[in-house]
Amino acid sequence: MQLNIGKLYLIVPIADTAEFDDSTFTIDEVETPSVIVDLDVLERNVRAMAALAERHRVKLRPMVKTHKSPVIAGLQSDAGACGVLVATIGEAEAMAAAGIEDVCLAYPPVGVGKCERLARLARNVRLTLSVDSSEAVRLVHKIAAASRCEVAVELLVDCGSGRLGSHPREVVRIAREFHDGPHVWFAGVATHAGQVYGCTDSAQVADVAREEAGAVLDAADCLRAAGLRCNTVAVGSTPTVAIGAAIEGITEIRPGNYVFNDAIQLALGVARQEQCSLRVAATVVSRPVPERVVLDVGSKTLSSDRGAHGNNLVRGFGVVIGHPEFHIERLSEELAVLAVPSDSVVVPGDRLEIIPNHACTVTNLVSSLNGVRRRNVAMKIPVVAKH
Ligand SMILES: Cc1ncc(COP(=O)(O)O)c(C=O)c1O
Repeated sequence: MQLNIGKLYLIVPIADTAEFDDSTFTIDEVETPSVIVDLDVLERNVRAMAALAERHRVKLRPMVKTHKSPVIAGLQSDAGACGVLVATIGEAEAMAAAGIEDVCLAYPPVGVGKCERLARLARNVRLTLSVDSSEAVRLVHKIAAASRCEVAVELLVDCGSGRLGSHPREVVRIAREFHDGPHVWFAGVATHAGQVYGCTDSAQVADVAREEAGAVLDAADCLRAAGLRCNTVAVGSTPTVAIGAAIEGITEIRPGNYVFNDAIQLALGVARQEQCSLRVAATVVSRPVPERVVLDVGSKTLSSDRGAHGNNLVRGFGVVIGHPEFHIERLSEELAVLAVPSDSVVVPGDRLEIIPNHACTVTNLVSSLNGVRRRNVAMKIPVVAKH
């Protein structure tokens, strides 16, 4: 059985990674609800993003909060990723334990306990921390001093998402407070266009992609004009990455969701159904009336996520594969209520597969993913570092 997983990550003892013989059991025998990942599609997505980065001569640093999986991070590294971007220190520790050597924490460090963990991490990996305040700069110096190892720092730039980051022209002020100490060095600037998930069509997505790149390029220009160095100029989100990667001056891309894609990416026109590697398998438990079907999956597996921006981009709670006419209207914790045409041929016991609205929140709800190849369950992929 060929798993195409890099050697580095196979020698890591991941206690509950299990590989199965192709003939052991099929997707239709998996207990539902369960999360399924089509390994062929996953690998295609990984390779396509690596090829995009190579074509535009930019580094690729995938955001791994999407999958929280050292196995999938291993695939991304083997395809050419320069390291990983993580959302939590737990993810950073799990990736380091699996042999990933270059880790960037996307959000500013806070709290004594977390800083101690980061100092330990800095001894084992090339660590980059992201900051947008003088307070965070001071913490980075403390972390570096405690670790006695090199720590890189990036300044976060707000490209219009209204979340983290300074205005592009403000970064010089923070950078000036910052001085390269014996263990700290300034790497550059980064941003993430989270506002893209508030778009409703591809023209808006393209505008956001240009804003995203424009903000970090502006910040880099300001830093260089002030005599400061700025090597990394990073952007990243799955919807904007194809445009961002092609813009002169961008050095690194940081998409996350692309490994799976989901109903939000479908609605934005960023991915097609055959590019969605992650599905939730469910079974029909009841059809109390002809126009209603009830499945054994609810918010505890599908999540109630409908996108962060409340822009009605998605309809209901996921896309039922092969049944565009089915509408997942409501979720309770363990059940989904679907409105279906009364003449549709679905009975209790039938199985359906759902592309969830937001794949990243779904993986966080399970402890492992079922990796399938041509409908055979080939391996269990552990999901680590959950809250
Ligand atoms: C800072 C940062 N960078 C990159 C990403 C990846 O974005 P996406 O999942 O849209 O590819 C995220 C996702 O939320 C993020 O928060």
